[in-house]
Amino acid sequence: MSDKIFIFDTTLRDGEQVPGCQLDTNEKVIIAKELELLGVDVIEAGFPISSPGDYKSVMEISKAVNDPIICALSRAVEKDIEVAAESLKYAKRKRIHTGIGASDAHIKYKFNSTREQIIERAVAAVKFAKKYVEDVEFYAEDAGRADTVYLAQMVEAVIAAGATVVNIPDTTGYCLPWDYGQKIKYLMENVSNVHKAILSCHCHNDLGMATANTIAGIANGARQVEVTMNGIGERAGNTSLEEVAMIIKTHQTLNAHCNIDSKRLNQLSSMVSTMMNMPVQPNKAIVGANAFAHSSGIHQDGVIKHRENYEVIAPEDVGVDQSSIILTARSGKAALRYHLDRLDYKLEKAQLEEVYQRFLIMADANKDIGDDDLIMMMDGKLNNNNIEIGDVQVVSGKPLKPVATVELMINGERVTASASGSGSINAALSAIDNIVGEQMSLDRFNVDSLVHGTREAGKVSLRVLYNDKLYFGIGEDDDIVMASVQAYVNAINKMKFETKKEVMGMAS
Ligand code: KIV
Ligand code: ZN
Repeated sequence: MSDKIFIFDTTLRDGEQVPGCQLDTNEKVIIAKELELLGVDVIEAGFPISSPGDYKSVMEISKAVNDPIICALSRAVEKDIEVAAESLKYAKRKRIHTGIGASDAHIKYKFNSTREQIIERAVAAVKFAKKYVEDVEFYAEDAGRADTVYLAQMVEAVIAAGATVVNIPDTTGYCLPWDYGQKIKYLMENVSNVHKAILSCHCHNDLGMATANTIAGIANGARQVEVTMNGIGERAGNTSLEEVAMIIKTHQTLNAHCNIDSKRLNQLSSMVSTMMNMPVQPNKAIVGANAFAHSSGIHQDGVIKHRENYEVIAPEDVGVDQSSIILTARSGKAALRYHLDRLDYKLEKAQLEEVYQRFLIMADANKDIGDDDLIMMMDGKLNNNNIEIGDVQVVSGKPLKPVATVELMINGERVTASASGSGSINAALSAIDNIVGEQMSLDRFNVDSLVHGTREAGKVSLRVLYNDKLYFGIGEDDDIVMASVQAYVNAINKMKFETKKEVMGMAS
């Protein structure tokens, strides 16, 4: 049986320290509940002495969460520890996280103290915290730059004082992976009572090595990792939870497992990013928008033939629907055919060749090509539109229901109908339904706003379900109702049925 790695999430403490990322208590409770569903073992809910808001958040999270241990941070200061203990009073399982600097730089310049005095303070803090809770974690701040032999003395002393977990933070993100790994190995081999506690990795990403260092820690005996969603945290951030969880899952040679339900990662990443106002970089491992997107022709061809040619994890494993084949000027015919097939455009080899040349011209002029661009490209060439849009008028305003009158030219013949609706768009589309008279339903409707110089426009893309088939349509206009009418008619033009030509009456 492989070893369990305890996942200690500090999104709501170290992550939330980032300027501009602050959350209110309600938001923190929402995220904490999601972390519980994700399967984290410990939630570091805040630093209660730091502000009344943090105190309240730790208390509310303690009430709302059942399974994970709730942890509160403190300095090695009695008042901090007392307040942390108080804030945890409703926690079903609680931990106080206390600690002090371990590097000579911290000892001298932060505390103006000596190595011996610092160990005394560390021991006293752990003993004081033990009066309130059984589970006490000690952090040896800046352990990454601390003298390893001194660090071992400190670790031994705090374990003897009752620490259940000892955190070895690379606070400044300084360590190389093999050095950090060696530090953990040294502690595992030289601290006589190390078996009475768990060593924990807490790595920062200043040199982009947080995840590598954390994994080196696991490989050398650490059994807890301190991580944040999306790797958020001060400066360059903390080790990212999703990366560590997926490395553990992917590399059996680590002989380790964790409790994370990886299928929830993508959704929680978006939630944290939105709530904290902190966009995820598109090339971020696991949860970035491009993490499963392939755009070069060679890779696309390889992925279409066999996904694992270019992916080491399956997108569904982290809650992403599927890999995406992005169409750009670097894409090949395999990718273009893949998308055209999906949109139900079946082309012969020669047709594909011709369409591919037009695609390349369009792709050179655009960053990437979406479904709507393909539809535009294909319909311009392949479809004879038998319905065109004439006049469209909408009368709206409270308390009246909006009423739309739409005129369509069907094979050159003018047909008009009116309808009311819950909104202007709904009324206009209902008027078109009255003309067409077929059983169609809107399956998807999306509006994007576009800015062309000083002009703003709306781009509508929609999908209509008719006879068990989906038809895509797009429209673009300064007026959102017009853009919707265009998109709807664009979709209808692809359906194979005779449109009604008689003028319809008013319907609601
Ligand atoms: O980075 C660090 O050293 C910390 C400690 C307070 C645990 O965040
Ligand atoms: Zn930290």
